[in-house]
Amino acid sequence: MSNYHIKHLEEYYQVYRKSVREPENFWEEVAEEHFLWRKKWNHVLRWDFNKPEVSWFEGAELNITENCIDRHLATRGDKTAILFEPNNPEEGAEHISYRQLYHRVNKMANVLKSKGIQKGDRVCIYVPMIPELAIAVLACARIGAIHSVVFAGFSSTALATRINDSDCKMVITADGSYRGAKTIDLKGIVDDALEQCPGVQNVLVVKRIHSNITMKTGRDEWLQPLLDAASDQCKAEVMKAEDPLFILYTSGSTGQPKGMVHTTAGYMVFTAYTFKNVFQYRENDVYWCTADIGWITGHSYIVYGPLTNGATSLMFEGVPHYPDFGRFWDIVDKHKVNQFYTAPTAIRALAKQGSELVDKYNLSSLKVLGSVGEPINEEAWHWYNDNVGKKKSPLVDTWWQTETGGIMITPIPYVTPTKPTYATLPFIGIQPALMDETGQELKGNQVEGRLCIKFPWPSMARTIWGNHQRYKDTYFSAFEGMYFTGDGALRDEVGYYRITGRVDDVIIVSGHNLGTAPIEDAINEHPAVSESAIVGFPHDVKGNALYGYVILKDTGESRDPDNLRKEINQIITEHIGPIAKLDKIQFTQGLPKTRSGKIMRRILRKIAEKDTSNLGDISTLLNPEVVQDIMDQAL
Ligand code: WT7
Repeated sequence: MSNYHIKHLEEYYQVYRKSVREPENFWEEVAEEHFLWRKKWNHVLRWDFNKPEVSWFEGAELNITENCIDRHLATRGDKTAILFEPNNPEEGAEHISYRQLYHRVNKMANVLKSKGIQKGDRVCIYVPMIPELAIAVLACARIGAIHSVVFAGFSSTALATRINDSDCKMVITADGSYRGAKTIDLKGIVDDALEQCPGVQNVLVVKRIHSNITMKTGRDEWLQPLLDAASDQCKAEVMKAEDPLFILYTSGSTGQPKGMVHTTAGYMVFTAYTFKNVFQYRENDVYWCTADIGWITGHSYIVYGPLTNGATSLMFEGVPHYPDFGRFWDIVDKHKVNQFYTAPTAIRALAKQGSELVDKYNLSSLKVLGSVGEPINEEAWHWYNDNVGKKKSPLVDTWWQTETGGIMITPIPYVTPTKPTYATLPFIGIQPALMDETGQELKGNQVEGRLCIKFPWPSMARTIWGNHQRYKDTYFSAFEGMYFTGDGALRDEVGYYRITGRVDDVIIVSGHNLGTAPIEDAINEHPAVSESAIVGFPHDVKGNALYGYVILKDTGESRDPDNLRKEINQIITEHIGPIAKLDKIQFTQGLPKTRSGKIMRRILRKIAEKDTSNLGDISTLLNPEVVQDIMDQAL
């Protein structure tokens, strides 16, 4: 089908118009021609954003792993599906062919079955970036178990919360993980977490770092002997289009993390179609996304999108600065990477090192560069475009979210002219809207407002696990009949979008979404703390860093502030993970509040940003006098 692979701008507009005028016909054609279905659908789309309820390809039956693996065996059996590059370059890369992947996924699936895992059961995967992570994900999908991958950098408390929220019966983990020169004791973290998780019956452990760990009899087992004994044939479970495929947690501005539920058919169709077009993937290309499979980027664009297209997807275990800051470029050179997809925070960290390390390597294989996770600032955009892309590989700034499942606003390389810091045009089938604060849509160009999406797309999350009301309140209540993204954006004179950042209480630090409330809850656990408020402030590598304002209890004792700061960050590390640590902690007597008791973060943000020339009207505050004190003691 010609539509599947867009080749020039005129075609983009044509296909886009069709996708908006006749969305059902459009997606039906894509679905018809490029996937393996056990049974076709009765309805392409049913939807109601007020309930909210969305279903795509209702009545269809399929298994996504047959689309990711089985159907490639005849033509691509020996092609590398997963190219694994370990943390230590001396260990050497591992090429896993589609046929090997088929056998390994089937073995893993049989092991899960032998432990009683059935269709619909939740399995928590807490595994570092090694092949077993992708294999475990696919093994769950093969038998219809719902995977819940938790990024293996989260703390034991965060892990326990996620395991319990979705009642996972099993945890798959590793003895430990490598991270540059360091190792992390993953099994120890799992052991701590499971003290609070009575529902977990089995823990399967991958041997990676050969550390000394304790195994709880009757619960914990090494995975390898089980895999060795398992059959390499496992029939794929037939799934309905709207059966859940996975849960993936994302931070909310308040309370518990949100378990976003993604379903099978629509997610498959959209991630496959976006992958093909946004990266212009051609047979025999080597594609590399540097994200972790613990995030949505890895789910959609390391595992499902690439594999449904029969691509070679590179998986990297390590970090950008080990053994030195040239590691990314070394890998691009060594494996002749054609598409490279990373995050602005990594770009900024690498740009700081200058361009000598980039120039040392041959990057001529690169055809497409991608960016995702947060707005990419002008300087980082140019550095990436000029030094890595040599001004000839288009840089695609892809805007999307855990909730959207796939890329929503993005240039199509070699099709859409790029513009620094702009995500440019909506992808095929995506209908964005900018709204003003009164709920009116801002029509026309050169407008700025809150970014919403007007019409369903196939890979949107269908609900929050166990809390449909929260799904409705968070995404469908701010603007009637629309999905609200939580981001602000502007549309320029030619209709290009630029994402300006979050407009809610989520702060993006090094590309990680962090809600203010969970961090404040953690800080408030410290016995000396009575109240706290977190805001973000600009940071040259992380994009944003965290600034905490903390009110101490009046106990009469004097305490060493630096010790307190350490203890507070320690608590945050235990509750959430090191990514949520505060860069600055200011102790204060009070926090500016409205008369209804809400903390005025806008003021705290300005003080943290050192931009106090225009604080706005503070006279309506309950306690305007605290503002001057906070300013005087700002860090
Ligand atoms: C939030 C979603 C989508 C995978 C990674 C993050 C921000 C993401 C961009 C971009 C500006 C971006 C938004 C969004 N964001 N990509 N290209 N330009 N902002 O997924 O953790 O769910 O975070 O990341 O604020 O809402 P996530």
